[in-house]
Parts: sequence; C-alpha cells; structure tokens
Amino acid sequence: MKILTKSYLETINFGTQLAHYLQAGDLILLDGDLGAGKTTLTQGVARGLGIKRPVKSPTFTLIREYQQGKYPLYHMDMYRLENSSAEELGLQEYFNGDGIVIIEWSQFIKDQLPDHYLRIQIVRLDDQKRQLQLQANGQHYQELLTKFD
Ligand SMILES: Nc1ncnc2c1ncn2[C@@H]1O[C@H](COP(=O)(O)OP(=O)(O)O)[C@@H](O)[C@H]1O
Ligand SMILES: [Mg+2]
Repeated sequence: MKILTKSYLETINFGTQLAHYLQAGDLILLDGDLGAGKTTLTQGVARGLGIKRPVKSPTFTLIREYQQGKYPLYHMDMYRLENSSAEELGLQEYFNGDGIVIIEWSQFIKDQLPDHYLRIQIVRLDDQKRQLQLQANGQHYQELLTKFD
C-alpha cells in the first residue's frame, strides 16, 4: 500500500492516525534516507499516543523511551549502532514488552528482527512530497493496514 504526503504536517497526521490503530507490543520499522521523514512520522505517532514530551532523534542515544502515553513508546535509531551490538541493547526485551517499538534504519539489525512487523519505507519525491510504502508482515499487521482503505 502506498500513501503520498505533500507536507511535513501530512506525515505527522499520518503518524497520529496510525497510532490510533496500534496495540501493545506492536513493531514498526521505518526505512528511508536521511531526511526522508522517519523521525517526523514517529513524532506523529507520539502525538497520537498522547505523548507531550518532544520526540527527538535518538541518533546518538540509539533508544529513547517515552512512558507517559497510552502505551510506552520505544523509539530507536540503528544508524550509529556501530560498536554496540543489538544484543547489548537488549532488543528482545523491547520486542517482548508491551510498548510500541519504532525502529529507524532497521536494516542494520535485520537478522535480529521478529518475523512480524509493519514496515514503512519513505521515499523523498521532492522538497515536500514523500511516498510512504507500507508493507505488513504477519496477519495482525495486514489487518491493521485494512484500516487505511
Ligand atoms: N512530506 C514530508 N514528510 C516528512 N518530512 C518532510 C516532508 N516534507 C518536508 N519534510 C522535511 O523533511 C525532514 C525530515 O526529517 P526527519 O524526519 O528527521 O527525517 P529522517 O528521520 O528520515 O532522517 C524535515 O526537515 C521535514 O520538515
Ligand atoms: Mg531520524
């Protein structure tokens, strides 16, 4: 499924809408180049979960946690995974937990990902336009996608 957003705000709004359909334990992978809009989309999800704290890119911290929303949000960015391993980060505990996990640059840990997830590939079409390509792995996420029809 493909969705076109024509502005920053439309990507925020998509994330907010997506948040309303999410359940405890859900996993979202965000892939796309620097500046594609991965963190922006996460900010929209955070807003939809009722998180008031500003969501900043976890580029250097790798994981940022937000506990005050409808579900805990674990926002990860694997771009600088480099010297720490995914095992050290304790990723399995996050995957088995009851929060929402969003991972930017998930391709760097692709061997350690669960089988089921919603993957959103963001393609920058021009300054303002982004194409969001949604791919569901597993029945739960396929059902989630039907909400966008
Ligand atoms: N349609 C759009 N969706 C998302 N971001 C957009 C859009 N149009 C312009 N932008 C801009 O692109 C940048 C996206 O940055 P960011 O979300 O940090 O990307 P990433 O996390 O993928 O590196 C922001 O400066 C944002 O204002
Ligand atoms: Mg980012």
